[in-house]
Amino acid sequence: MRIGIPKEIKERETRVAATPTLITKLVKQGFEVLVEKAAGAQASFSDEAYVAAGAELSDSVSVLGCEIVLKINRPTASEASFLKKNSLLIALMEPYRSDDLLEKLATNGVNVMAMELLPRTSRAQSMDVLSSQANIGGYRAALEAATHYKRFIPMMMTSAGSAKPAKVAVLGVGVAGLQAIPTIKKMGAQVEAYDIRPEVKEQIISVGAKPIELELGEEGSGTGGYARELSEEGKKKQQTLLAEKLKKFDIIITTANIPGRKSPVLLTEESLKGMRHGSVVIDMAAANGGNCPLSEADAIVVKHGVTLVGITNYPALVPADASEFWARNMLNLMALFVTPGTPPTLNLNLEDDIIAGVLAVHQGQSRLKK
Ligand SMILES: NC(=O)c1ccc[n+]([C@@H]2O[C@H](COP(=O)([O-])OP(=O)(O)OC[C@H]3O[C@@H](n4cnc5c(N)ncnc54)[C@H](O)[C@@H]3O)[C@@H](O)[C@H]2O)c1
Repeated sequence: MRIGIPKEIKERETRVAATPTLITKLVKQGFEVLVEKAAGAQASFSDEAYVAAGAELSDSVSVLGCEIVLKINRPTASEASFLKKNSLLIALMEPYRSDDLLEKLATNGVNVMAMELLPRTSRAQSMDVLSSQANIGGYRAALEAATHYKRFIPMMMTSAGSAKPAKVAVLGVGVAGLQAIPTIKKMGAQVEAYDIRPEVKEQIISVGAKPIELELGEEGSGTGGYARELSEEGKKKQQTLLAEKLKKFDIIITTANIPGRKSPVLLTEESLKGMRHGSVVIDMAAANGGNCPLSEADAIVVKHGVTLVGITNYPALVPADASEFWARNMLNLMALFVTPGTPPTLNLNLEDDIIAGVLAVHQGQSRLKK
């Protein structure tokens, strides 16, 4: 049985779904592994390293024609056309996008695991690419903030005078926010953080930040550990209260997200006008509309004297470790349904809640809840 590792072709993508370390383990399990030439080059994994790990180098069409295909991003229509009947594709699929990619794959008999659908339970944690990549994203976003800020992050006392530490607010404290806080705090910033789910307060304190509290008069916790969308009145109230609180901050890192919906607006144009010139907003939600409507996806813009950074793929800026973590997630996921051997066998047992949750297309049928 063959596993194919294509080179990612999405713009600005530098990661690869399998590293040489993973290949060694897959080969031991009895798989033949085909890696597209230069698939890992941007993540610092050479073709030679893949060959030394036991892979065969190949072209895109052969790799996509394998029985299992591991990818980071959803395939383009052209890539999808090379996937074979009864094969298994594992990738981020953006399952709620309103196009017919998943239906086409179902028609062609391709089985698909959409990593966004993995249940967020303790047992699934070691397979969860959203968490492993958000963690890296939060770290890298904090570095980006420090780079764009035109002053020091820590307090500085020098013979030429002293500088105050940067005041940083992190808005949205899920996996990314929980990593952004300690990363920028370690650089010497004073950090405060806000999340709509009240249960996050303890976690904010545990990573060394001060919680920002707002009286919204409505509940922000939804199901499965995620936030709930606020009423229109609640959204307005949140924006107004935040605008007042955020005036004192030099750097704002926003990560707020509600799966399947446009990102909530936390920073309005009025809030930006209230900020100091030279302040920095790192809008980690820029791909999905942004937590600030003035930020632009994959651009760095200055509005009202505030630098807005709209990078949409932070893990791709740490591609070697991001790929290693991704590959480990894949190894753990595959352990659920692979029996090693010559050849290895697969059992997609729908009684396993993880397999049932992550399978978006199985045996010609889309399993997405409409
Ligand atoms: N295996 C597990 O148990 C597991 C795995 C992953 C995540 N989780 C938990 O799931 C939760 C969500 O994680 P995530 O990082 O994927 O979240 P996410 O990226 O979807 O969202 C980021 C944060 O934005 C917050 N948010 C949404 N709307 C907001 C608003 N209007 N104002 C302020 N904040 C807002 C959310 O509450 C969330 O904390 C976290 O508590 C995380 O710890 C659990």
